[in-house]
Amino acid sequence: MTPPPFSTVIRTASRDRHTEAENSAFMGDLLGGRLGVEAYARYTEQLWFVYRALEDGARALAGDPVAGPFLRPELFRLPELERDLDHLLGAGWSSRAVPLPATARYADRVTEVAGGWPAGYVAHHYTRYLGDLSGGQLIRDIAEKTWGFRRKGDGVRFYVFEAIPNPAAFKREYRALLDDLAVGAEERERVLTECATAFELNTSVFADLAVAVTGAPSRPGPSRG
Ligand code: HEM
Repeated sequence: MTPPPFSTVIRTASRDRHTEAENSAFMGDLLGGRLGVEAYARYTEQLWFVYRALEDGARALAGDPVAGPFLRPELFRLPELERDLDHLLGAGWSSRAVPLPATARYADRVTEVAGGWPAGYVAHHYTRYLGDLSGGQLIRDIAEKTWGFRRKGDGVRFYVFEAIPNPAAFKREYRALLDDLAVGAEERERVLTECATAFELNTSVFADLAVAVTGAPSRPGPSRG
């Protein structure tokens, strides 16, 4: 029997962790309209640290036979994030921005794999960019309605891929690249593990954000009777 394509394997393997990230208390509250625009701004600020690591890493990996094919400039988000943050936080935000502990761990891990393990970097690339092209569109729609951003305008540009007019076709091509990932079976297993780590890091950022914006942990703590 032919094994399933790697894009299917990675999607199936991350399904449970996707559900967990999607259903985190912070995401639920944010997208349920229960948090103010400051929470959305703080979340966007944390993304900036993550994408800085991803896109600095992309520069380091340009031409790499394993990660190189994934590094499509039309995916880059840093300029859009910076424009959104100018709008959300005002001029000078970058000198005030602070990564939450989970964000720092996440960015450090991305930088680490970008520097030494190209296929591990692909796990992080997939987890963020394919998600942004998928559920990210739903998040944009809700953010526009909840906090009154202009459609596809400042504040939500991160979710707008101007250079990708047909996301479904782009995702098909991306999945074909995953299917052809230039590493063997054993390393593919490690990529699945790294992808799980990438999802867990996202969930940890949401947990830190829950504490930072509401002062309450994202999961109920032990009962104090
Ligand atoms: C409330 C938040 C989220 C919603 C509503 C959401 C929703 C979705 C939806 C509907 C899809 C399927 C799109 C399709 O079939 O083409 C998807 C795919 C995906 N999401 Fe999310 N998502 C959320 C959060 C996240 C997070 C936090 C991550 C990780 C950082 C993530 C990563 C992904 C990835 C990698 C895919 C592509 C799966 C694949 O086709 O291989 N998502 N998301």
